[in-house]
Order: sequence, then C-alpha cells, then structure tokens
Amino acid sequence: MAKSDGDLDYSKDPPEIELPNIYPVEWTVDNPKLYELFERAKREAWNPSVINWDSLDPKDYDDDQKTAMAYWWALLSNFENSGPPVFAKAMIHTFEIHEQDPVKKMFASIVMDECRHDECCMRACNKMCPYFLQGWKPKTSFDEAALRNIRWVYYNGARYWRGYNTAYIRHSWPIIFSSFMLGERCAATLFSEMSKHSKHPTFTEALKNIARDESRHLAFTWLGLEGIASKLTEEDKKTVTKQLRAGFTFLSMILYEPPKEFWKLPPDFIDVQRKMEGIARDAGLGVLSLEEKTECWKNAILEVKRRMDDFGIDFPALPEIGISGKETEFDEDSMMPTF
Ligand SMILES: [Fe+2]
Ligand SMILES: [Fe+2]
Repeated sequence: MAKSDGDLDYSKDPPEIELPNIYPVEWTVDNPKLYELFERAKREAWNPSVINWDSLDPKDYDDDQKTAMAYWWALLSNFENSGPPVFAKAMIHTFEIHEQDPVKKMFASIVMDECRHDECCMRACNKMCPYFLQGWKPKTSFDEAALRNIRWVYYNGARYWRGYNTAYIRHSWPIIFSSFMLGERCAATLFSEMSKHSKHPTFTEALKNIARDESRHLAFTWLGLEGIASKLTEEDKKTVTKQLRAGFTFLSMILYEPPKEFWKLPPDFIDVQRKMEGIARDAGLGVLSLEEKTECWKNAILEVKRRMDDFGIDFPALPEIGISGKETEFDEDSMMPTF
C-alpha cells in the first residue's frame, strides 16, 4: 500500500478537515438542558393521521364556511409548509459549523414537527374543499377571491424564501437563531387559544398538538439565546432588533394582520381575509378576533422584551399594536423569521 498520495501522508493522522463541513462526526454537549428538550421532542411526537379527520363532515357546513375554513388552513400552510425546508437548512448549517449535538438534533426534530403541522393544513383543506390548492374549482366570486388571496400570500412567501435562502451567507448563526424567537412565542399562545375556542374536536386536537410543539420550539429558542447572548456584538444586537421587527412583519399575516412593509397585496386583500376569518370563526374553527390576536402578540412581546432587556437588546417599535420601541429600517433581504 502506498505510504503517501500527493500531499497525504498515510503514516500520520489525516489532515484537518476544512470547515464548513458536516465532518468530522462530533457529539459535543455544552448544555445538557438541550438534550432534555430533545428527549421531550421524542416523547411528545404525535401522528396527524390518527386524529379523527373523518368526524369532520363537510355536510355540516355551507359552501362559504367550507371555503373560509380551507382558506385559513391554506393561509397557515404559508408558514407550516415552509417550516421543513427552513429548519432543514438551519439543521444542515448547524452540522456544518459544528454546533453542539443537541442543537443539531433539535433542528432535525423541528423539521418533522413542521411536516406534521403542514399535514394538518393539508388534511383540513382536503376535508373542506378537496384539492383546494391544486384542482379545486371555485364556484362563486367568494371562492375565487379566497384562492386569489392565497396565491398572493404564496407569492410573498416566495420573496421571503429568497431572503431566507441566502441568510446563512450574510448572517452569523446567533442572528438567524434570534429571528425564530418572537414567532415561536406568539404562535404557541395563538394555537393554544384557538384550540380552546374551536368548536370541533378534530380542530381542537390538531391545534393543541401544534401548540405543544410550538411551546417546545420556544423553549429551544430561549436556551439558544442564553447560549449566544454573551457573544453578541453591538452590531449583532442591532440586527437582532431588526429581526424581531421582521418576525412581526412576516408572521402577522397569520398571527395578526399584514403590516404595510414587505407585503405586496391587492388593495382588497385585507377585506377578503377579514371576511374569510369571520366566517371560519363562526363555523367553529376557533380563529381569534383581531382584539384577541392583539392580546396574544402583546403577551408574547412582553415576555420576549423582558429577555431582550436582560441582554441589552433594544426592542423594535411595533406601532400597529401600540408598542413603542426602537425605529428600524426595513430590509427585504433580511426576512428570515419563522415559527
Ligand atoms: Fe409549525
Ligand atoms: Fe415552531
């Protein structure tokens, strides 16, 4: 056997692997609490197909109610369907930069959680309006408006993805990590509130399960923040403030109402959305009113703000819901929040 091959000397250890690379294999654990969270993720795993979707009988609802409920789930899927690729990218990135093992494994578990959430969106839509996004034929102008709105949301989702997709070149890991926080916090409350308001056990169960996952994701972001807070530079902190505002901007499409910045939407978009949400709420889906959503955001914000204060990070101004704070400049390339 050759003793050497070009620069390789087989009598010695192999050369250092140039990073970023997923190799060498590493199982470092800096924070055992992260492993406890991964254990929780495995324990709390659930299967959307065992939820009793058949008990959702389309005959119990009129056509507008079915369209409006499919609308809400399709709107939610703008976020849930992006979850698997968004977190898969985070997972690959953390492998490449050799984050501690439970961080990598937590991201892997979140990819699967998001698949489950998206599956619920798909199953609910298919029950109400089979093949809602592909092949369902609108019968009325109400139906057409619903589909048109959803297509505009996805158009904007594609713009978000372009920003997120390149975020890993432009930002360090802690910054990207911080952008998940606000959304996870608000989503955890929103879904848990919706599960209480919902009038159908199938929706209640799906929403309760999603809420449990979101609260675990939230716990993950807290531990992540604790791990990175001392390493943040002043410049990083400014970007985190911007990211918190971006989180509000992007996720408000489902968690509140879309703010002016970022979203490119037809002028009657919000009227159509309010109508859809109102009808879906009356049909028993558990969609929160604007006042209840504002309350949800405010509670989420107070909690996140308290933690930001501890780390000397400014909270952004969110005038839409009456929160004063630091003015931030909008930058479309930095859209990378999710839940
Ligand atoms: Fe999700
Ligand atoms: Fe999440």
